[in-house]
Amino acid sequence: MWILVSLVLIFFAAYLVVTYMNNKIYKKYENLLYVVNCLINTIEAKSPVTYMHTERVCLYALKLGKALNLSKKNLMLLKQAALLHDIGKLGIPDNILNKPDKLTDREFEIIKNHPQKGYDILKGSKELEPIAKLILCHHEKYDGSGYPNGLAGDEIPYLSKIITIADSFDVITSNRPYKTPSSIETAADELKKCKWSHFDGNMVDVFIDILMKDNEIKDIMNSRIKKDGQ
Ligand SMILES: [Fe+2]
Repeated sequence: MWILVSLVLIFFAAYLVVTYMNNKIYKKYENLLYVVNCLINTIEAKSPVTYMHTERVCLYALKLGKALNLSKKNLMLLKQAALLHDIGKLGIPDNILNKPDKLTDREFEIIKNHPQKGYDILKGSKELEPIAKLILCHHEKYDGSGYPNGLAGDEIPYLSKIITIADSFDVITSNRPYKTPSSIETAADELKKCKWSHFDGNMVDVFIDILMKDNEIKDIMNSRIKKDGQ
């Protein structure tokens, strides 16, 4: 009898510990999410040109991440990093960030500081540092010709390579005063052309497969065409 009572007590104690830890992790995650949301609102307030850009990049990145069988933990990290990838633009002067025309070479050099600035903004927090490291690398290119550190191939964090593809797809399909938006098919061709130079070629193949089948992405494109007259 006493063995049974001991077992029940042990199981009950284990249950209490697991529940406590789950609540603690959830609370920590909730706080982190709150901070992340505040930061996202700040970027959007500063840069109306990129309004909704981060949400779309996040959606595309998550679709690619799921197709690449990322774990739940990595999907969560990917989501936060995708939403915050341009946080460093807070440190870029408004007249450059919101310039309606094409940037001069000098202005583009200033814009290129935003991954480092994003890293510097987030690196001070232990919880946000993993996101900071991913953000730092979202403009690196597979062949090493990207910035800020010219990393190549697998030197670039896996999740950063996903964000790079999602970000580029959104830029290619977006309307800008200096460029017309591309269709899904043209954007897919652009991504294909840059396999193993700008992008991880295997990831591009998976993403193009998603683009050809995914109705949600097609709906986003159609609603943007109607809204922007694109
Ligand atoms: Fe960026």
